[in-house]
Amino acid sequence: MPEQKEEWGSKLGVILAVAGSAVGLGNFLRFPGQAADNGGGAFLIPYFCALFLLGIPIGWAEWTMGRYGGKKGLHGAPMIMGAVGKGRLARYLGVLGVLIPLGVSTYYVFIETWTFAYFLKYVTGGIGIVQGTPIAEQTAASSSFYALITGVDGDGSLFTGDSRYTVISWVVVFAINMFFVFRGLSKGIEKFVSFAMPIMAVCALVVLVRVLTLGTPDPTNPEQNVLNGLGYMWNPDFSALGSFKTWLAAASQIFFSLSVGFGVIINYASYMKRQDDVALSGLTATATNELFEVGFGGMITLTAAFVFLGLSGTAGAVATGSFGLGFNTLPVVFAQMGAFENIIGALWFFMLWLAAITSSLSMYQPAVAHLKEATGMAHAKATSVIAVIGTIGAILTLWFTAGGGFWSTVDFWVGTYLIFVLAMVQIIYFAWVFGIDRGWRELHQGASIQVPSVFKFVMKYVAPAYLIIVFVGFTLQNFKASLAASWASTGSRVGMLTIAGILAYLVVVTWMGEKRLRAAGVDIDDTNPAD
Ligand code: ALA
Repeated sequence: MPEQKEEWGSKLGVILAVAGSAVGLGNFLRFPGQAADNGGGAFLIPYFCALFLLGIPIGWAEWTMGRYGGKKGLHGAPMIMGAVGKGRLARYLGVLGVLIPLGVSTYYVFIETWTFAYFLKYVTGGIGIVQGTPIAEQTAASSSFYALITGVDGDGSLFTGDSRYTVISWVVVFAINMFFVFRGLSKGIEKFVSFAMPIMAVCALVVLVRVLTLGTPDPTNPEQNVLNGLGYMWNPDFSALGSFKTWLAAASQIFFSLSVGFGVIINYASYMKRQDDVALSGLTATATNELFEVGFGGMITLTAAFVFLGLSGTAGAVATGSFGLGFNTLPVVFAQMGAFENIIGALWFFMLWLAAITSSLSMYQPAVAHLKEATGMAHAKATSVIAVIGTIGAILTLWFTAGGGFWSTVDFWVGTYLIFVLAMVQIIYFAWVFGIDRGWRELHQGASIQVPSVFKFVMKYVAPAYLIIVFVGFTLQNFKASLAASWASTGSRVGMLTIAGILAYLVVVTWMGEKRLRAAGVDIDDTNPAD
């Protein structure tokens, strides 16, 4: 029996799915850490430059290319890029649009597992911090729970003793992911995000209100209040703007957070109808993401940490990085909230889990779509193959936990560097090969808004130039050193080999797909453009 054509159940469905993909751990954990590390309030300058000059325009290009691919019956990033870019090179560069989400999923679902494990612990009595004991003792208890869940202390440690709790939690979390991917686009992903997104918003609002009404909990430390907490995060340090690293961090935060240059939007948009709006949909998903990122992510974590722990505690928390802040420091903060400790802790980690799973679902779908299209596999079989690859990636992530070497290597090369490359490839092909005039017309087909024409100039010149400069600069300055660092530990070496392995597999699949689709008479090089 031929499989049913996949499409979104409603116009809102695709917007919610893209917004669900965008709002994730990047908003609540990565963003505050990056901002605090790179100039506080001053970080917002490069951040908003990257949003308007890269994130929004390249996002529109991705939505447009995706819907165009869908008109031709194509859904995987390699085939869509091959059509937009009229040939093989674009098609093989498009493999990044599958490698990135699949590669990121290996560690993303691991961190998603932590949120789930923490949530369960809070629901069943807390993570072992004793209220009223000295802060140093509470911090030690929080750190030891963090080590237990994350296995940072040694490779293989998650497979021993109480740490096996993480492995069991991973099985549950991964199975939920696979269940919804298996159910398909509208019955699985769309259904799930439609109820998960509103619940997540409510949880985030409750936690935010709780944090903003903390006032001055310790009268003997009047300077530790909410306003100063917000100030700690947002007071600008303009000297940070002189550093190339700040601009790079801001751009990569925008891409990671919006899921732009990620391979997700191009796939999701390919299931839209040809007259469905992409211009306003793209903007709506972006605005939702920014509300969660700047509004919620930017106000919750550091503010709460400052109010209870003060500058020294907060500075220490920032030093532990984005994840340390959310998983290590906030539990100590929650412990100061008296009777509310477990409720707020549970809400926070449940909210993080919902944010994470609506993103991770979007990381498997592009790979399933590519496999189905390239090999002719049925949905169930393609999902099973991706489940096997995901499981192998997860076993490696779960095993090589020492110092976070495995996942930080994959995060750097796939989740930061290659996202840059794909975003650059996408905007160059869109503006210069597909053609900006044609792209602009395509973007406005069925559009509910008229995009200001300045964005035409931004898409053609500013975004490509911006990315090329940052990319070349970074490659010249840091490539060699980053590569050496990624070869330094066993975990990081395995991370590099895992990326290479997935890439090799996807290239072979793409090569098979080329042959299969050509033989079936599909116009994969777009010799007859669709209208
Ligand atoms: N866009 C997703 C996030 O921010 C990946 O977490």
